[in-house]
Amino acid sequence: FHVDIDAAQADKGTYPFYMLKEIDEQPNVMRKLSQVYLNDAGNPVINEDLLATLKQADRLYIVAAGTSYHAGLVGAKLFESLANVPTEVHVSSEFAYNQPLLSAHPFFIFLTQSGETADSREVLLNVNEQKFPSLTITNVPNSTLSREATYTLLLHAGPEIAVASTKAYTAQIALEAILAKAIGMVDGQAAAKDFDVKQQLALVANGMQALVDEKDTFEALAKDALLHTPNAFYIGRGLDYDVSLETALKLKEISYVQAEGFASGELKHGTIALIEKDTPVIGIITQKNTAGLTRSNLQEVAARGAKTITIVTDDLAKPEDTIVLPAVDERMTALLSVVPGQLLAYYTSLNKGLDVDKPRNLAKSVTVE
Ligand code: G6P
Repeated sequence: FHVDIDAAQADKGTYPFYMLKEIDEQPNVMRKLSQVYLNDAGNPVINEDLLATLKQADRLYIVAAGTSYHAGLVGAKLFESLANVPTEVHVSSEFAYNQPLLSAHPFFIFLTQSGETADSREVLLNVNEQKFPSLTITNVPNSTLSREATYTLLLHAGPEIAVASTKAYTAQIALEAILAKAIGMVDGQAAAKDFDVKQQLALVANGMQALVDEKDTFEALAKDALLHTPNAFYIGRGLDYDVSLETALKLKEISYVQAEGFASGELKHGTIALIEKDTPVIGIITQKNTAGLTRSNLQEVAARGAKTITIVTDDLAKPEDTIVLPAVDERMTALLSVVPGQLLAYYTSLNKGLDVDKPRNLAKSVTVE
């Protein structure tokens, strides 16, 4: 296949690695998605045929791999809360050969930065055989999964070159939020109508900018807590758990620190045995209903010697917190809480002298099953 890459956009410029450039591009990607998919009044502009088909579905099945799977976990919460449609998220390599019992009217959403992932394509081929409708959300126009699905929505994130995905993840979540609002608006659901996605994306863009402007802080933190550790844990509940999976993956793939994302309440059921003196445990706290619980879980590991770091939204922050995120709607916090994790992974890898953009054993797009 053939990919058109805009030469100017694909230039690293003064950046040492594409990954840092792509992390920095995220505020603009948020603004771009807002321009492309929202009108002046802030309402989604999405293909009506696609919306009508989505509206007939009794359940959404999000299918994806790697970072895109993690974006799907966040998206499911958006589709359920804004569009009131039950949503399942599946790892494509699992779904391909172990298809669960489907609802009467399923609709499939394929999340794939490259549009070429073989595991996801295998599912799409099965879905097409069963004549179910599908949508591919991808960064690459005319990619295989884009051509083979019923509908396509583009991420407009610009070429992503670094193997570790950053801006595609946040673009996927932002577009899922827009799509969830659009589905909910079709039959005038209050949650969708009241959700000002345009304003939220503007707040997110500014918040991302404030975070990427603090690079020195993240580099110092990475050097202090992550550079010399063999392992690390990211913990959270709900949306914060979803982000902990993604931030742990970032650290693993480019810095080779063994990292795990964990549901913070589950830690005590076994994994806490791994906590030793100075084991880094990074707690993500952005959800009111579980903030106190994750804080207690952090105290449990601190009592066993862990070095705890907190990533907390402004409205929930305490003086002792490590990183404070600007406040946005609770459903949108993943777009901000992931950024510190991206930067911590980047600076850990950089200070280890590794090739940040081309980690060992990994490929940007995996076209074998
Ligand atoms: C590879 C990449 C990951 C990516 C995954 C899914 O493993 O290294 O960064 O998340 O494929 O790729 P896709 O293009 O389908 O989003």
